[in-house]
Amino acid sequence: MDSHPLFALGGRLRLCASMVREGAALADIGTDHGYLPIWLARRGLISRAVAADVRPGPLEKARGNIERYRVHSQVAARLSDGLNAVSPAEADDIVIAGMGGEMMIRIISEAPWLKDAGKHLILQPMTSAKELRVYLARQGFAIVREQAVVEDGRVYSVILARYSPESVSAGGLYPYIGGLDAENEDNRAYLRMKIRSLKKREAGLKRSGREAEAAAAGCLLSELNEMLEKRESNGNGR
Ligand SMILES: C[S@@+](CC[C@H](N)C(=O)[O-])C[C@H]1O[C@@H](n2cnc3c(N)ncnc32)[C@H](O)[C@@H]1O
Repeated sequence: MDSHPLFALGGRLRLCASMVREGAALADIGTDHGYLPIWLARRGLISRAVAADVRPGPLEKARGNIERYRVHSQVAARLSDGLNAVSPAEADDIVIAGMGGEMMIRIISEAPWLKDAGKHLILQPMTSAKELRVYLARQGFAIVREQAVVEDGRVYSVILARYSPESVSAGGLYPYIGGLDAENEDNRAYLRMKIRSLKKREAGLKRSGREAEAAAAGCLLSELNEMLEKRESNGNGR
């Protein structure tokens, strides 16, 4: 039987895919449908992959898709809570996308072998991105690259991190924007979203009389606005 023509990945998963190193052994944790490893395998961009999920239902979906797209010799579906059923040799690059940042923190903390400069973590948190960035810095993971993407009107950020305690820098805006710059429109959309939430926080702090914290939020807001203004006065890059 011929394999089905390959589907197109949405912008969010395409950005995750773009951070996977060519030829890598991939572990996709919380794979659900399995689209990310299937897409990478069919395009010849990875050597092999484990498509892992903690729930049997999604894993069955991934298995069906692995068969449908004929990548069973490269992609193995596996029931696993986080990385518990994945060995270090099976994963150069680890993608964890589409789940909460708190769950990602748990998954990373249960796999101490990730503290290896050769391993790349590609993380796309749906919530608690700030807590995740702070956790990464405390544990010695540096953000090598971070990039935002807008899909269906929602803005997501994808973090590429690796263990490198000597290059961690975590002050100022780091918990809010990690490695994002203001160089393209999707990143700027993320920065504007942070400005809106920090403004709300600043107003709430002022209302409850927490002047010092409100002033600190005000400083962060000025820095964020400056980043955007500097970029806008230098011309509007996409
Ligand atoms: C919303 S889906 C995201 C699917 C895909 N990664 C994406 O970004 O489109 C989240 C998946 O993570 C799985 N999941 C949640 N907690 C997990 C854990 N601790 N270990 C493995 N998978 C988990 C869920 O079962 C679900 O299939």
